[in-house]
Amino acid sequence: MSHPPAPTSSEPQGELVIRTIAMPADTNANGDIFGGWLLSQMDLGAAIYARNLSRSRVTTVAIDAMTFIAPVYVGDIVSCHATLLKVGRTSMRIAVEAWAQRTKGGELVRVTAGVFTYVAIDDAGRPQPVHRT
Ligand SMILES: CC(C)(COP(=O)(O)OP(=O)(O)OC[C@H]1O[C@@H](n2cnc3c(N)ncnc32)[C@H](O)[C@@H]1OP(=O)(O)O)[C@@H](O)C(=O)NCCC(=O)NCCS
Repeated sequence: MSHPPAPTSSEPQGELVIRTIAMPADTNANGDIFGGWLLSQMDLGAAIYARNLSRSRVTTVAIDAMTFIAPVYVGDIVSCHATLLKVGRTSMRIAVEAWAQRTKGGELVRVTAGVFTYVAIDDAGRPQPVHRT
């Protein structure tokens, strides 16, 4: 099994799976971006990766090692990057990291990391084997 990218990387690791802008509607009571929004971006991005890999519907079965490293601010460009760690019989384990590009200065900051597991499912929602293409 391969391991998640080194936490000290100075640039994004893995395939770009989603890129968006953090909006005022996504803030928490501190005025920073709500962690749940960021988590959902990571989940969406990794699901796109898993779906493309398996050519199948997928569902999230587990999220591990989720870390919030730095805040995200309104206006930051947020990108999520996915690295495949393991393909099982029906599951796919994917490391995901999110990076924020700051509005002022354009600095790129690693803001989260986590490991998401997806299961390939059939039309009835039952696990089905991952057939990599
Ligand atoms: C995902 C789901 C279809 C799996 O069904 P299941 O009956 O538990 O299936 P299995 O026990 O055969 O497990 C399927 C695979 O998932 C893996 N898995 C199950 N639970 C896991 C967990 N907690 N963490 C990591 N992997 C897990 C199994 O190891 C297996 O992998 P493999 O086939 O590669 O060896 C079912 O649990 C489900 O529908 N969960 C809800 C998913 C959902 O709604 N997600 C969105 C959350 S909002």
